[in-house]
Amino acid sequence: MKTIRSIKTMQRTARQAVAEGKSIALVPTMGFLHEGHLSLIGRAKKEADIVIVSIFVNPAQFGPREDLSRYPRDEKGDLKKIRAAGGDIAFLPKPRDVYPHGFQSWVTVEKLTQTLEGASRPRHFKGVTTVVAKLFNITRPDVVVFGMKDYQQAAVLRQMTGDLGYPIRFIVAPTVREPDGLAMSSRNRYFSDSQRAEAVCLYRALKSAKEMVKAGERQVSKIKREMIRAIKASCPGAEIDYIAFTDLKTLKPAREIVKETVCSLAVTVHQVRLIDNMRLL
Ligand code: PAJ
Repeated sequence: MKTIRSIKTMQRTARQAVAEGKSIALVPTMGFLHEGHLSLIGRAKKEADIVIVSIFVNPAQFGPREDLSRYPRDEKGDLKKIRAAGGDIAFLPKPRDVYPHGFQSWVTVEKLTQTLEGASRPRHFKGVTTVVAKLFNITRPDVVVFGMKDYQQAAVLRQMTGDLGYPIRFIVAPTVREPDGLAMSSRNRYFSDSQRAEAVCLYRALKSAKEMVKAGERQVSKIKREMIRAIKASCPGAEIDYIAFTDLKTLKPAREIVKETVCSLAVTVHQVRLIDNMRLL
């Protein structure tokens, strides 16, 4: 496995691979890798000859009160994991190279970014789309793999990929969970053991919603009420930011649960903002 830190070297390496007729898969990450990230690398390996895993804690997608400075990092451990998972290139650009002095060009996706996470985190997606567009330009992937865990992010980036005409196949891979159901996330490490036990409330709420739908319920308002109850019961201190029922691709609110409906929620548990989602049918 190669580790590349320079944007120029990465561009040259990608160009060479393309010239040799090799296909490239890209898995963008912010590091502190867990099984969820590794599952994306595994999927990418099946899709292309060369797998590039980028690690870049992107300052542009963190809000002023968010956790950029305390975002967990473990470069050495990450490189080991990428190698073990079969990644070919780890790409770790530097912030000053990604955002050089005088940087002023941004990529924005207008509508899909207004709701859900976008409503609570106003500049977040502009940071995400800009950095991912740069990563696309630098690494020239044929395929990219993102996680369903960040379902709105996947929808926004799929839109950007189509709108800007990138010739890239877009794969969204399933959420990997801890044995108790908590979606794996780099942010889970902020919890103490007892707090960690409460963090499972998002998954519990989604499961109870799924069970209601299985039993025949289709009305969003009733399901939402039950989810709020489930969260309050297992995590009294939780602050619910939103519980939403939206279409998988358009993110438009659903009135009734149908096959394409995704239930997503954001909940702050002991000062850590968690998100999760599930298809209910
Ligand atoms: P990060 O949070 O590191 O996530 C990198 C990729 O891993 C994303 O596609 C995310 O959806 C996926 N992922 C995270 N947890 C997962 C889980 N439990 N199961 C499956 N996939 C999971 O998302 C970002 O970084 C950044 O916004 C990025 C796209 C890299 C742009 O900076």
